[in-house]
Amino acid sequence: MKILVTGVAGYIGSHAALELLNAGHEVHGFDNLSNSSEEAVRRVRELTGKPLRFEKLDLLDAPGLGRLLKEGFDAVMHFAGLKAVGESVEKPELYKRNNVDGSANLLAAMEAAACRRLVFSSSCTVYGEVKKNPVDENHPRGAVNPYGQTKLDVENLCLDLARRRPGWRIALLRYFNPVGAHESGRIGEDPRGVPNNLMPFVMQTAVGRRDKVRVFGNDYPTPDGTGVRDYIHVVDLALGHLAALDRLDAFAGAQAVNLGTGRGASVLEVIAAAARASGRPIPYEILPRRPGDSAAIWAEPTLAREKLGWRAERGLDRMCADHWRWQKNNPDGYGV
Ligand code: UD1
Repeated sequence: MKILVTGVAGYIGSHAALELLNAGHEVHGFDNLSNSSEEAVRRVRELTGKPLRFEKLDLLDAPGLGRLLKEGFDAVMHFAGLKAVGESVEKPELYKRNNVDGSANLLAAMEAAACRRLVFSSSCTVYGEVKKNPVDENHPRGAVNPYGQTKLDVENLCLDLARRRPGWRIALLRYFNPVGAHESGRIGEDPRGVPNNLMPFVMQTAVGRRDKVRVFGNDYPTPDGTGVRDYIHVVDLALGHLAALDRLDAFAGAQAVNLGTGRGASVLEVIAAAARASGRPIPYEILPRRPGDSAAIWAEPTLAREKLGWRAERGLDRMCADHWRWQKNNPDGYGV
């Protein structure tokens, strides 16, 4: 199939493009490069030995999107978006414009070109305050920050569109916590500045870029008192997208599916696994809870198994080993 990938230079987009190419799809990607590097695209080409068309384009460029979609695509995988929770609190309008208005532009351009097959990168953040674990797709939705609200809003745009216009097939994939990297160590997550997320911070500590990990709270009602999350290997996540693409016909309109492992790991378990994988000590200190964090969330992954025929295969040790290889070989990320 001929697939358009938005946000192709980003962490998840680049891994998905690689798996799409390896599965024999034709891929055309775009990215505005605001928080990513074109070097990721070059490395995907190098790893696959296949052509990957790339252009610099912004979701807010509606005429540009219209022109591109008119070329004719079988489906779109939509990863482009801003994702820093803290920044979204400071700049909610920026997040709405980029993530929500940008996605609306994409949907309009797709409709105009009669391309009605979409895989969208949603997030478990749409579950808001977690009532009970594991979380299944019927858990009530809510937003606890502006970033989460944008994911909720885009899900709603997709649900509305699919209700109004028959023929749309949309997979709303709700990711849990993506970590890890391609096993080659050539592509991976390259956060700008100080990482907000746990795994990049832990790995930068292992490689010596940071002194110690700050553990946000050890008084949660969890087995060791630290926060529990469902970490998922980014390659498993990418393969989940391919499974969704293959099974889009089974989607009645727009439908949400969790992509998680179904297993939770605590902050201290992640630090211990990263120390094993890297063979380096990872010092840490306990700090107060981070505002807005929940104690624990992990996925009910059954629907993905039934509907997509997909399950996550890679465990925490593998996630850490692969993330470490990327970090060790690219201590400054893509360096551009
Ligand atoms: C965060 C976002 C979520 C977003 C996801 C993207 C918040 C509240 N949520 O998820 O909306 O979809 O990133 O990847 O920001 N931790 C530490 N020290 C650190 C960093 C994190 O102890 O330096 C802890 C956190 O308290 C949490 C766990 O590690 O228990 C995971 O945190 P993080 O990687 O930031 O992900 P989430 O907060 O789950």
